[in-house]
Amino acid sequence: MAETVRVLVEEEEVDKRIRDLGEQISKDYEGKEVHLICVLKGGVFFMCELAKRITVPVTMDFMQCSSYGAETKSSGIVKIVKDLDENIEGKEVIIIEDIIDSGNTLSYLIEILGKRKPASLRLCTLLDKPSRRVHHEVKVDYTCFQIEDLFVVGYGLDYAQKYRNLPYIGVVEFH
Ligand code: IMP
Ligand code: MG
Repeated sequence: MAETVRVLVEEEEVDKRIRDLGEQISKDYEGKEVHLICVLKGGVFFMCELAKRITVPVTMDFMQCSSYGAETKSSGIVKIVKDLDENIEGKEVIIIEDIIDSGNTLSYLIEILGKRKPASLRLCTLLDKPSRRVHHEVKVDYTCFQIEDLFVVGYGLDYAQKYRNLPYIGVVEFH
């Protein structure tokens, strides 16, 4: 089956929204330091761009969970592939995700990271597909864009590990 990518959100629009979000986070955390936790691999492009727009002191760490394989459907099982390098106790933590779909990954992450006693724990996502939510207890604090139930790629998001490097957000169409 052949696939093509159609532009959903232009590069300029994504960059502008990330700048605005960076400003908002800088205001919300005025006088504090933020510790960004990037959910690999998809969150990398978003975290780098966002971190550059935050004016309060920033530290970063990375975590990797397994959710989707080469398929576009979730297995429902979350596993930690790479844990954090640093302790988060007493830190103002923001989890940085590429996309929240069922909420399965984040529901699990909030549970395990919450037990490590951060001073605060918030969620920030590039994209949110609210219509797909299964875990309604997952509250998202910062969202760049809400989208419909479409399979998207680019800006860190992949389809079978491809297209992460696209500077815009696109929709994969299968022919
Ligand atoms: P959730 O656990 O169902 O919320 O799914 C979260 C993860 O699934 C994301 O971090 C992505 O890696 C992946 N995912 C969900 N929807 C998409 C999509 O439209 N394109 C690419 N990856 C997706
Ligand atoms: Mg992800």
